[in-house]
Amino acid sequence: ILFASVNQEECIACGACNSAAPDIFDLDDSGIATVVFAGDNNRGVTAIAEELQEELQEAFDSCPTQCIQLAESPFA
Ligand code: F3S
Repeated sequence: ILFASVNQEECIACGACNSAAPDIFDLDDSGIATVVFAGDNNRGVTAIAEELQEELQEAFDSCPTQCIQLAESPFA
């Protein structure tokens, strides 16, 4: 897993991803999550650092709506 993007249509603003991986996910004013790692801006085109893979997996596992999308290659 290297790339991540939140399907914001499905995000219910629970905040679990931000708690598990604050360096990867941030929440906007409405609580909707976005991938902010290295300025990715939720595009899913920035490889998430190797040392953050564990928390990325934790965030993925903790999302109640499974709206965190992970991939081995960039989303766009
Ligand atoms: Fe949203 Fe899932 Fe995070 S519901 S706030 S993407 S844990």
